[in-house]
Amino acid sequence: MLVAIDGPAGAGKSTVARAAADALGFTYLDTGAMYRCVALARLRDPGADPAALEIGLGERVTLAGEDVSEAIRAPEVTAEASRVAADPAVRAALVARQRELIAGGDWVAEGRDIGTVVAPDAEVKVFLDATPQERARRRAAQSGRSAAEVLAEQEERDARDRAREHAPLTAAPDAVILDTTGLTLAEVVDRIVNLSTTRRAARETGRTA
Ligand code: DC
Repeated sequence: MLVAIDGPAGAGKSTVARAAADALGFTYLDTGAMYRCVALARLRDPGADPAALEIGLGERVTLAGEDVSEAIRAPEVTAEASRVAADPAVRAALVARQRELIAGGDWVAEGRDIGTVVAPDAEVKVFLDATPQERARRRAAQSGRSAAEVLAEQEERDARDRAREHAPLTAAPDAVILDTTGLTLAEVVDRIVNLSTTRRAARETGRTA
C-alpha cells in the first residue's frame, strides 16, 4: 500500500509522514531529500548527472557513501533544491527511482508530486497544508531564525514550486486536503492512519471507500 503525502514547505509533511509510517509499520520515503542530494551534488559539480548519483535513504541520507544528512539542509542547498526540482531531466531521473522503490511493500512517501505524478494510483493521497504564517512560524521555531525572514524565503520557494511547468505543486483531484493549522501532530497522524486502515479494510473486503 502507498500513502502519498504532498504539500508545500512547512505544512508538516516530514514529521507527519515519518510518524504515520511508524504508526502504520510502513517505510518512509523522503523524496525531498533526493532533490536536495542532487542540489548538493550540482553545487559541488555543476555537471553532476542526477541519474548517476548514488543516493542512500534511511536513518541517514548518503551521497556516494558520504553522510550528507545535515549538509542537505543548509540554506544554499534548500534554495538550489527548488531550482533543480524545476529541471525536467532531474525530475525524470528521480521519479523513475522513486517508482522503483515504492513498487514493492508498504510506503508512506512524502513530496510535492507523489499523488499527481509519481503514483497517481496511490490508495491514500493526502495534501497537507497550513496558512503561510503558520508554516513560517514552524520553520522558524526549528531553525531559530525569524519568522519574517523564513516567510519571505518561503513565499519565493512556494511561488517557484507552484508555477513551474513540470509537476507543479498542486493537490491531486482525489487527495484529502488536510489543513494542519491548529491541529496537533497526533491529530493529523490519527487522520492519516484512519484513512489508510479504512481504505485497506475496504480493499480487503472488496468494497471501495
Ligand atoms: O520537502 P523538501 O523541502 O525537502 O524539498 C526540497 C525541494 O525539492 C523543494 O523545493 C521542493 C522539491 N521537491 C519536489 O519538487 N518534488 C518532490 N517530490 C519533493 C521535493
